[in-house]
Amino acid sequence: MNVFYQYKELNLAKNNCAAKSIGLVPTMGALHEGHITLVKRALEDNDLVLVSIFVNPTQFDNKNDLKNYPKNLDTDLSKLLSLGGNVWVYAPEAHDLYTTKVESQTYDFGKLETTMEGAHRKGHFQGVATVVQKLFEALKPTTAYFGEKDYQQLQIITALVKQEKIPVEITSCPIIRHEDGLAMSSRNERLNMKERALAPIIYETLLKAVALKEKHSPAQIEAWVTDFFSLHPDFDLEYFSIADSLSLEKVSHLNGSKTRAFIALKLGGVRLIDNIKF
Ligand code: PAJ
Repeated sequence: MNVFYQYKELNLAKNNCAAKSIGLVPTMGALHEGHITLVKRALEDNDLVLVSIFVNPTQFDNKNDLKNYPKNLDTDLSKLLSLGGNVWVYAPEAHDLYTTKVESQTYDFGKLETTMEGAHRKGHFQGVATVVQKLFEALKPTTAYFGEKDYQQLQIITALVKQEKIPVEITSCPIIRHEDGLAMSSRNERLNMKERALAPIIYETLLKAVALKEKHSPAQIEAWVTDFFSLHPDFDLEYFSIADSLSLEKVSHLNGSKTRAFIALKLGGVRLIDNIKF
């Protein structure tokens, strides 16, 4: 496995190898099975897979969240090593990607950005779009892989590629969960034992919400979920929303597979998100 800290070195090596298709899996490290599944999918489709590991400062609206974000490059590299020599890692310092100031560019994603994560994390998607565009321009992948775990991010990246006319295909991959249903996330490491034991309630609630859809409207289901969490002292619900899976706008009635439910909450001090197809 090759590890690069500068994209110019990576490009030199890339130009000297015969890879016709290049898959990119952008990550912020603290790799778990959700990330590894994206890398495995990219390996199925491409001659060479680049995994970027970079905790992007511009997408954090909260300095503490950035400071506490788990970082362990050695552990990450050992996890990727087992996937073979066609996986290369790009683990830059900020100045390699952000050649001048470490700040976001300005994009207009319309309503895609003003709802859910965009409404609760100011500037988050401007930062995500900035770093992902920089990665695309620096590494020029054929295809890039993103998880449905961050479903709104996936829609933002799809819009970015269209708006900026970036020649890359976007492939989405399903959410990988622990056996108890909790969606895998680097943030799960920050839950204490009690919180970790409670965390599966999030997915259980999403499943119950789906079960309610036969006899109840989205507004009734949203009210039920809000009431449920208001009675639970350990959870602090930020939003639960049943929305169109492309526009992400709330729906007043269910429209088959085009609808998803999205949730964000705090458990202890840890902010978690999840979503499910309706
Ligand atoms: P990060 O949170 O590290 O996630 C990297 C990729 O892994 C994202 O596409 C995310 O959706 C996917 N992923 C995370 N958990 C997953 C799970 N349980 N199942 C399936 N996929 C999962 O998302 C980011 O980093 C950053 O915003 C980034 C795109 C790298 C830009 O900085």
